[in-house]
Amino acid sequence: MKKVGFVGWRGMVGSVLMERMRAENDFADIEPVFFSTSQVGQAGPDVGKDIPALGDAKNIDELKALDVIVTCQGGDYTNEVYPKLRESGWDGYWIDAASALRMADNSVIVLDPVNRAVIDSALDNGTKDFIGGNCTVSLMLMALGGLFNAGLVEWASAQTYQAASGAGAQNMRELIAQMGKIHGDVAEKLADPASAILDIDSQVAATMRSSDLPTEHFGHSLAGSLLPWIDKEMENGQSKEEWKAQAETNKILGRGDNPIALDGTCVRIGAMRCHAQALTVKLTRDVPLDEIYTLIGQSNDWVKVVPNEKEATLRDLTPTAVTGTLTVPVGRLRKLNMGGEYLNAFTVGDQLLWGAAEPLRRMLRILME
Ligand code: HSE
Repeated sequence: MKKVGFVGWRGMVGSVLMERMRAENDFADIEPVFFSTSQVGQAGPDVGKDIPALGDAKNIDELKALDVIVTCQGGDYTNEVYPKLRESGWDGYWIDAASALRMADNSVIVLDPVNRAVIDSALDNGTKDFIGGNCTVSLMLMALGGLFNAGLVEWASAQTYQAASGAGAQNMRELIAQMGKIHGDVAEKLADPASAILDIDSQVAATMRSSDLPTEHFGHSLAGSLLPWIDKEMENGQSKEEWKAQAETNKILGRGDNPIALDGTCVRIGAMRCHAQALTVKLTRDVPLDEIYTLIGQSNDWVKVVPNEKEATLRDLTPTAVTGTLTVPVGRLRKLNMGGEYLNAFTVGDQLLWGAAEPLRRMLRILME
């Protein structure tokens, strides 16, 4: 049995990973060893079998004894520990949720329902670093991978609606705290049916702009508003999140030499953990919609085509419907006024599942095959 070390398993992505691994009975097939940066020697989580006390996540000698390391600890940890570990001669598999090694030449971004062939050929060629992709990119490819893999995408533009979870656990808490503060400040007026809606509205605006609103993590009001910038500024005017779309999509698909152009605007909205995105896809030819439905719907076991009808859309194509599930619905599929080669699409996916933990869990399973 392979000895698999887990680092960062207590954080949000790590916890979702643990939950999924328990649900799929993955721990039965490995010898798990849990690590910590702060609670070395304490008891590890309940995984249905005996495990050693928590190891030291920064002790290279302890880490060197592992066949596989799965880390959800974050980029700083990767940048600190990974080079030392490789320099020490460690030749095991490194599976990482952080972006630090994503674009490295010797790593593969894992999303096996879409790029299993890329993963298999990397394994054959001795690749040892398998990195989870950006959540927005992974969710877009889970939804539309059928079109990409059929060579039907000339370019695509995504306008995103990204959940608070993508920014972190503290941001999710802050979003709810902001909602609560906004509601609290108008609760009395709201309870009075005779109160004027414009008075309520101006109080809401005042709260959203006030320094009393909790904004330590987002820096601004997200509740009742939106934030059209995610991650750092790039020199070309894109946000880093927008830059990732083209860079990571093409790396996932193994087409670095012949990249498909992707660009758009990434926006944070007040959803908890589901990212949504509206896509304009320029097809390489005018493919009939029924063929598009089939290509998309049959591309993996989790994608679900939602008919372009109001009731089905509002029932099945929302963060509320999708949150906490592995289903990736795609809907609003129709040709745009620009012509038969222009496809409209809208998709929603759980940012913590297919957007983060699930591709890592499945990569570990691939190594056990
Ligand atoms: N960068 C993403 C976001 C999350 O901020 O929503 C992780 O891929």
